[in-house]
Amino acid sequence: MLETDVLIVGSGPAGGAAALLLSTYGVRNVVVTKYANLSDTPRAHITNQRTMEVLRDAGVEDQVVAQATPQHLMGDTTFCTSLAGEELGRLHTWYTHPSRLADHLLASPSSICDMPQHLMEPVLASNAIARGTSFRFQTEYLSLEQDEDGVTATVRDRLRGDEYQIRAKYLIGADGGRSKVAEDIGLPMVGRMGVAGSINIVFEADLTKYTAYRPSTLYWVLQTGSDVGGIGMGLVRCVRPWHEWLIVWGYDIDGEPPDLTEEYARRIAHHLIGDDTVPVTIKSSSAWTVNHLYAETYHRGRVFCMGDAVHRHPPSNGLGSNTSIQDAYNLAWKLKLVLDGTAGPGLLDTFSAERAPIGKQIVDRANRSIGETGRVFEALGLLSTGDPAQLRANMAARKLPTPEAEKQRRALREAIEFKNYEFNTHGVELDQRYASDAVTPDGTPFPANPRDEELYHHATTWPGAKVPHAWVTRGAERLSTLDLGGQGRFTLLTGIGGEQWVSAARSQGVTAVTIGPGADYEDPYGDWARLREVGDGGCVLLRPDNYVCFRSYGPADDPAATLREVLDRVLARG
Ligand code: FDA
Repeated sequence: MLETDVLIVGSGPAGGAAALLLSTYGVRNVVVTKYANLSDTPRAHITNQRTMEVLRDAGVEDQVVAQATPQHLMGDTTFCTSLAGEELGRLHTWYTHPSRLADHLLASPSSICDMPQHLMEPVLASNAIARGTSFRFQTEYLSLEQDEDGVTATVRDRLRGDEYQIRAKYLIGADGGRSKVAEDIGLPMVGRMGVAGSINIVFEADLTKYTAYRPSTLYWVLQTGSDVGGIGMGLVRCVRPWHEWLIVWGYDIDGEPPDLTEEYARRIAHHLIGDDTVPVTIKSSSAWTVNHLYAETYHRGRVFCMGDAVHRHPPSNGLGSNTSIQDAYNLAWKLKLVLDGTAGPGLLDTFSAERAPIGKQIVDRANRSIGETGRVFEALGLLSTGDPAQLRANMAARKLPTPEAEKQRRALREAIEFKNYEFNTHGVELDQRYASDAVTPDGTPFPANPRDEELYHHATTWPGAKVPHAWVTRGAERLSTLDLGGQGRFTLLTGIGGEQWVSAARSQGVTAVTIGPGADYEDPYGDWARLREVGDGGCVLLRPDNYVCFRSYGPADDPAATLREVLDRVLARG
């Protein structure tokens, strides 16, 4: 029987990232994946700063940046009647507004980018394989049984047609929105599938003249009285500037799913472009459903689920693959430390305790964003009638020199501005706080964000938050505080006067780094001193995922005993 430490079912963003991280940490793992290929359509694309930090720690950030569309080409999100038609307004998105760009630069060493899923998955998988992952394509997970020592999965080789078993100490179900693993272990789900119907159409067309002057990842097309079977609103998404595209088009989920012929797809594409003379090559079309569903717990015994298997939601806010990769980052180091005996198995319970609340939050956030687009429709007078002529008249009314039209113009501006809650939610992306046994509270209250907690990131070293980013230097070298941590190990950050913390950390096998004048690293801008919320002689202890799990404002009476106690608790020892 094939044996491994961790069996991963699925090679999407969740499974690929889990394999990459486990192999990076030296954990034996096998991936089984149903099809012969990785994702062959772009699907998820927005890759936020937190995900880029994960990829940075895994040493593949450069490979993603080399292929991704950079931030400055992502942000002129445009609302229009067609690409060639009338423009209704624009919103600076993905932190490209000058004021948000500062927030973006200050928050992280990594930049948001647009990395379509069919390009992301090969980066995750190829690096995982290069570091030791055994990948089995055309291998379908069928069932599992678990006992006290491990999990036995039955899989089918889809080439040969035979079934065989794989024995692993742990199994990760990263098998997407129709997860059989989640079903087999009976994870409790809240919400429902099939809230609305959507079609993806991938096509090639040179749309430079309609898009390059307002570069964006998303063009929202509002078409009144559309006659091509949709609901009148389409999304034209840039896959590769400015010649490869993906349309998202709705269909009535209560009716028959549309017949996705090439002719049908081309008609929608030309409709949304608004110029039938543009040559369009359809590459693929597929139907999918908008879901509003999350699992309340992510594991049973030795089986853990992550990604769409446990949170299913629409693409709004671009949280799908990001959250999936971040789930993997949370679990991988815990598996490594439990498998090598550094931590007790109780540490693995904190995966669900930490990630399930985040899953619920992002499912709700993404679904709320869909509803909020209704404000734009309302402002344009598109909800009060179904008559195409009247719809067009309502929309045109905003150009009139009347008090009503002035009100309408303001309402439209405000409705588009409100979409910041879909496209600029820095707090949602970066401020995922954890409360679990793998974090030691210091008795201080939850750090309230002085600004809107969804829109703005709030840096803090409060235990349960991600370590704040600050640039520190050593000679000519410039690193982020996040670069000091990570790499699968615990790291203690301290300053001048923190010598006792340093020796205490080293006695526990924890990497210790001092920051300050003449220390390991300099803090030339004073950013770390401003952000660290502890004194020079205090410390901040980082988990391998760069989350703060303990901090002390100043020196302790017996730092070695204090750290031992903290690590015993965080690592569920004894
Ligand atoms: P994912 O579905 O990517 O991967 C599941 C993996 O499991 C696949 O490799 C599959 O082959 C494998 N698998 C399934 N069953 C198996 C079995 N029994 N045995 C072995 N392997 C099995 N998100 C976003 O942010 N922006 C977007 O624009 C879109 N667009 C979009 C379009 C369409 C059509 C879909 C279906 C989804 C999106 N998404 C999206 C969602 C996004 O793609 C999604 O959140 C991530 O892919 C989730 O990653 P996972 O790895 O969890 O699942």
